[in-house]
Amino acid sequence: MTLRTRVGLAGGAVVFVALAIASVVVYSTVRADLARRLDESLAQTVEQSPAIAVQLKQKIERSGQAIPIDTPVDFGSTLVQFVSGPVYPGSNRAFIDVTKRDADVARGREPAYLQDAVHDGVAYRVLTAQMPGSSSNLVRVARPLSDGVDVLAALAGLLIALTALGGVAAALGARLAARRVLRPVRVLTDAVEHVTATRDLSARVDLTGRDEIGRLGRSFATMMTALDASMHAQRQLVADASHELRTPLTSLTTNLELLAEDDGLRDPEAPVLVRAAIEQAGELRSLVNDLIDLARYGEDTARAEDTRLDLVAATVVGKASSRAGAPRFESALSPCLVHVDPDAIERAVGNLVDNAVKWSPPGGRVVITVADGEFAITDEGPGIPPADVPFVFDRFYRSTQARSMPGSGLGLAIVRRVVETHGGEVAAEPLARGVRMRLRLPVVRD
Ligand SMILES: Nc1ncnc2c1ncn2[C@@H]1O[C@H](COP(=O)(O)OP(=O)(O)OP(=O)(O)O)[C@@H](O)[C@H]1O
Ligand SMILES: [Mg+2]
Repeated sequence: MTLRTRVGLAGGAVVFVALAIASVVVYSTVRADLARRLDESLAQTVEQSPAIAVQLKQKIERSGQAIPIDTPVDFGSTLVQFVSGPVYPGSNRAFIDVTKRDADVARGREPAYLQDAVHDGVAYRVLTAQMPGSSSNLVRVARPLSDGVDVLAALAGLLIALTALGGVAAALGARLAARRVLRPVRVLTDAVEHVTATRDLSARVDLTGRDEIGRLGRSFATMMTALDASMHAQRQLVADASHELRTPLTSLTTNLELLAEDDGLRDPEAPVLVRAAIEQAGELRSLVNDLIDLARYGEDTARAEDTRLDLVAATVVGKASSRAGAPRFESALSPCLVHVDPDAIERAVGNLVDNAVKWSPPGGRVVITVADGEFAITDEGPGIPPADVPFVFDRFYRSTQARSMPGSGLGLAIVRRVVETHGGEVAAEPLARGVRMRLRLPVVRD
């Protein structure tokens, strides 16, 4: 059963129950009211009974007919019976038997009373009372109970029809409303089904409402865009990586094939080929390591902890300056706490230091400062041509003059990945001589 139908049924049921309760209340109120009016009209007739008795007497006298006064007479729609006193139980059989209670009522010993009684197959509401103005006469007035029945039956029919119609109308209305309300859900479902069926994340989800479902739709669209971008980036990375891996792999294969030829190993060139093959294997390994780091450090900041940026810089510089042919390092490191993954940030800082070392002229000066969450490194190398600045952080990007140097062009891409994952930023500033790289991270505490 669809959600729409369920909402429709629920709406119909609620309205049906409400109408049914209201109908029962209306019906019983009207019925009680009718019964009260009937009783009131009987009491009124009793009050008028002396006048009625006079009229009846005159009528009998005029007609000359001998009608016993205690025969019940039709007066309008009311039946009136007089029993003249003294009244004894069983003294009259013309209408309803006279009882001991009736005799007491006639003498004023008992109050008037109401009862339902059947006479000649007709059900009556009967009021028995002492005749007003007399001390021993009894009057009985009666009206058929069927008087209000027609009205009540008509009312019941009307209420039942209204209740049923109201329920059906409410169910249809609710179903229609649900259809409108659920339209965005249908749009979302269609979009999800489309993605499931086609794996196409570029599908558009057009939901503009400001309500909860509108928000869900917008979040869904944002999520799809992000997923699409991430899938695209992944595909691009795989494509770039395979392309870059292919070059050293091809040279390596060529060298190994030469060695595998008949006299390859006895060839005097063999040691050169072996050394070249080892170098190419090393290049492959570092490329693969860089790729792994690039993927790993961009994932999340789950391993982040409060880290002293100045101490990380000191460790990296310490290692770099102990290497042979290192440039002259000058550091000014102020204590500064940032919330980062220490391994990742050490790798980023290490890559910047590696570049400075790689590009510094012999005996060149490398200045490193850490303050206020910023790590800056300045070298005196050839610098970066302004036209290259926008691209140096792209993976595998290497400027034309860098192609002769070892390296894969992943170093700065890893730096940007790490820094952006931690909510920081990195920039290259070409100087008159050399370049300054700035890496800025949000500070926890100075
Ligand atoms: N300090 C620098 N001086 C001059 N050029 C630089 C400097 N740092 C980076 N570059 C330029 O930016 C390019 C990208 O740098 P990146 O560190 O990403 O790659 P790489 O150093 O060539 O290789 P890898 O770091 O992966 O071994 C370099 O090839 C170079 O052209
Ligand atoms: Mg580098």
